[in-house]
Amino acid sequence: MKPLRIRPRRLRRHPALRELVAETSLSPGHLVAPLFVKEGLKSPHAIRSMPGQFQHSLKSLLKEAAELVALGVPGVLLFGIPARKDERGSGAADPKGVVPQAIRMLKAKYPKLAIMADVCLCEYTSHGHCGIFHKGEVLNDPTVAALSEAARVYADAGADVVAPSDMMDGRVRAIRSALDAAAHEDCSILSYAVKYASSFYGPFRDAAENKPVSGDRRGYQMDPANWREAMKEARLDLAEGADFILVKPAMPCLDILVRLKEKLDCPIGAYQVSGEYSAICAAAANGWIDERRAALESLTAIRRAGADFSITYWAKPAARWMSA
Ligand code: PBG
Repeated sequence: MKPLRIRPRRLRRHPALRELVAETSLSPGHLVAPLFVKEGLKSPHAIRSMPGQFQHSLKSLLKEAAELVALGVPGVLLFGIPARKDERGSGAADPKGVVPQAIRMLKAKYPKLAIMADVCLCEYTSHGHCGIFHKGEVLNDPTVAALSEAARVYADAGADVVAPSDMMDGRVRAIRSALDAAAHEDCSILSYAVKYASSFYGPFRDAAENKPVSGDRRGYQMDPANWREAMKEARLDLAEGADFILVKPAMPCLDILVRLKEKLDCPIGAYQVSGEYSAICAAAANGWIDERRAALESLTAIRRAGADFSITYWAKPAARWMSA
């Protein structure tokens, strides 16, 4: 047998060599923290199914933001849980609601932080669906009008980015028009363009108190069997005026990230969702997996696949691990 001339292991031997040849970088600057803020809470409330995550009071939200800023995390994505819900989800567009309040406070205190507001009705509707629900169906166009109103209210409060997550058709165009009509040309739209009807959103329903009372979301979110549909949704949202797009969930969609990155020239984010987080935390709590290594590996893999940034519940711990 001839001696081996090519030995890929040579470049894996030394940590410094590994660092020099690493193809993908991950830093706190690639992370966005999703944060829940609940109306009327006096102190933070731990989310049972998501260890280390909380429904925040306005006060604890500020403290959390301070820690994120200190760690170099550039953005937060806000979800609100109102004290009262109704059939039409009217709380989503209440200028005195908990999200506009949170935006104003964060903006005043941390002007460098990118404040993103999730735009959806599901936390605000009594039935838990993402839109206006009538005879077993979510009505598209009336929902789009309600979402546009909510987006405008968040922009009025000072949001840098609005992020519609409802999956209604035509909502990006409607939101862009509503923002422009209110002189919010500078507010960006991060569209959840590619959002699958995923089982991995399970724990989020505890966090945001938005479990549908009947049915599921397959009538508006995408079928995980499809990838061409992802291209179509992404292209449509960009044509309607989205500045950047999200793919969700993240790890089950690495192939989608690769394909979108090859075909599009917009920035792409990935949302590493609640079930991805909780599954790794649960395995770690059993001693079956190392949380830190699994979290950093998954975030690296998501970047390698094509995401410019990740929205992740590990934003704070990961930023800490990276700076240690
Ligand atoms: C609301 C929304 C959901 C998530 C983000 N925005 C839930 C859903 O669509 O059921 C999921 C996030 C997560 O699981 O971490 N439309």
